This record gives sequence, C-alpha cells and structure tokens, in this order.
Amino acid sequence: MKKAKILVTRAVFPEVIARLEQYFEVEHNQADEAWSKQQLADKLRDKVGAFTTGGERIDAEVLAAASQLKICANMAVGYNNFDVPAMTARKVLGTNTPDVLTETTADFGFALLMATARRVTESEHYLRDGKWDRWSYDMFSGSDVHGSTLGILGMGRIGQGIARRGAHGFGMNVVYHNRSRLSPELEAECKARYVAKDELLKTADHLVLVLPYSAQSHHTIGAPELALMKPTANLVNIARGGIVDDAALAAALREKRIAAAGLDVFEGEPKVHPDLLTVPNVVLTPHIASATVPTRKAMANLAADNLIGFLVQGKALNPLNPEALA
Ligand code: GLV
Repeated sequence: MKKAKILVTRAVFPEVIARLEQYFEVEHNQADEAWSKQQLADKLRDKVGAFTTGGERIDAEVLAAASQLKICANMAVGYNNFDVPAMTARKVLGTNTPDVLTETTADFGFALLMATARRVTESEHYLRDGKWDRWSYDMFSGSDVHGSTLGILGMGRIGQGIARRGAHGFGMNVVYHNRSRLSPELEAECKARYVAKDELLKTADHLVLVLPYSAQSHHTIGAPELALMKPTANLVNIARGGIVDDAALAAALREKRIAAAGLDVFEGEPKVHPDLLTVPNVVLTPHIASATVPTRKAMANLAADNLIGFLVQGKALNPLNPEALA
C-alpha cells in the first residue's frame, strides 16, 4: 500500500525520522533550512500530516494551501504557533507533547531562578572580562532563595513541579495564582497557597511565570504589574515571549525597580529586545527549558507517536481540538 505523505518541518533526531519512515513517505528538513511561510504552505500541499516544532505558524493562510492535511503534531507542550480555531474549521487535528517535559522544564525554571537570584552569569562575565582582582564584602550580593517567598503565575504541571522544588527542597513559602484553583490535595502536596494576582505580585521574592500564551495572556506582566513588585524581587519567565512586555521589563531592570530577571523566552524570538541585551541584571537563555537529550527525544517520539497513532491507528494521544474530528 502507498504510504501517506508527511512533512517534518525542522531537523530532528535521525532515529525519529527513521521511525516515521516505517509508516510514511517523509519529506524532512534535516538541513534545517529556514522556510518562508509560502515554502511551508507549498510543502504542505500534498501532505496529510505535519511534524512541527513550535516555531512554525499554522494559520488560515497556510491551511488554505494544505487541503489534504489532517494533523499537525507539535514537538512542544505550548502550541501558540497553531491557530486552533482555523485548524478546527479545516478539520485539522493539533497535538502537543505534555508530561514528558514537565520535570526537566521545572528543573530549568529553578536553574534560572537560582542563576538570577545569585547573579551567576553577571559575575561570570565580570570574571571572564578579567575584572576580578580582589574579593570584596559586597561583591555580587544577590537574594536568598531558601526561606523566601516563591510566587508562581500559572499552576499547571510545570508550575506544580517548581512549587514542589521550592517548598520541599528550599523551604520556600509558595504562593500561586492560576485561572482555576488546585484541589486541596494538590495544594497540600505542593505546599502552595492560592492568592489573587495582585497579592502574588506584591509578595513574591521570586516570581516564576509558567502560564500559556494566548491573546488573553499577552503582556500579563507589563509596567503596571512590574510596579507592584518589590524592588528586591526577581522575575523568571520560562513560559512564552509576549507574556512579558520586554521593553517595560528592560526599563524596570535598568532603573532597579525590580532586582533582576531570568528569561528563557522573548517577544519575537529569536530576536531579543536590544535593551535587554544591555542591562546587566538579567540572565538570558535561548528557549532551552526542555533541552536535555532524554527529554527532547521523548518529545520528538511523542510527536511521532501522535502522527502514527492518528494516521495509522486512528487515535492521537494528545489531541488539542478533538472537535476537529466531529
Ligand atoms: C517549549 O517551549 C514547549 O512548549 O514545549
């Protein structure tokens, strides 16, 4: 029987391509070329499935060209690159890769929190630049993590992982805000107390953002929210660019209206707001929160499982818009 045609939009583990080739005729991009939207649309024209990685926008325009497309499997838990209503209207199923990256991403949230609080990269640059000629009592004094108040905005699986690390590992007092409150059992397990958003902003010593991006969460943290935070507070964003107003944040950091920030995601990434590149009190990483080899392999395999599950066995594992199949 003729194999169905799928597109893999970016370079991925060769063994995942080999797995997909057992089931499909695969057009891949192992050269990792940057495709324009038009090129992506053209390549999707004769495909029934797409393996995407979170950077490729699947919207009405692309879908209009992809009349045979049935499924887009994102190798990411976030899926703000999908226009879900447009996909549903065209009966295209979207899938993502939850769970497999939760603990790895929570580890990284904590790494960024620690690096930000203890000024790890700022002090390393000072050392590498040859500026360290003697010890001094106040050199790179940061903020304590243990025993401080950890605020979490967005209390899904990753937020809960960060709460557990903070409460159980570092004796932090954990407060959170979320669209919906956790069950009493989960709150007890995470040792986390639900508070209103303003209270979260006012009380957190370390505020970690882990909420999904949508039109509603655009600039959730802008100048008014930053103004509520303590001047000693640190902000960590491992969620998505666009949740923070990066220009407002850079100004707050420069004027020391908050102490420091750790950012793994940026508005318009891979571009970074130029003002963030010139303030010293920010730790910047290139969207790597889920980047360990085992986790990235698990994500790639889960995206492949979704394609195989849906196109070969008739059932996707992580459907985002099951109504597309109605
Ligand atoms: C990474 O940002 C993801 O959404 O998996």
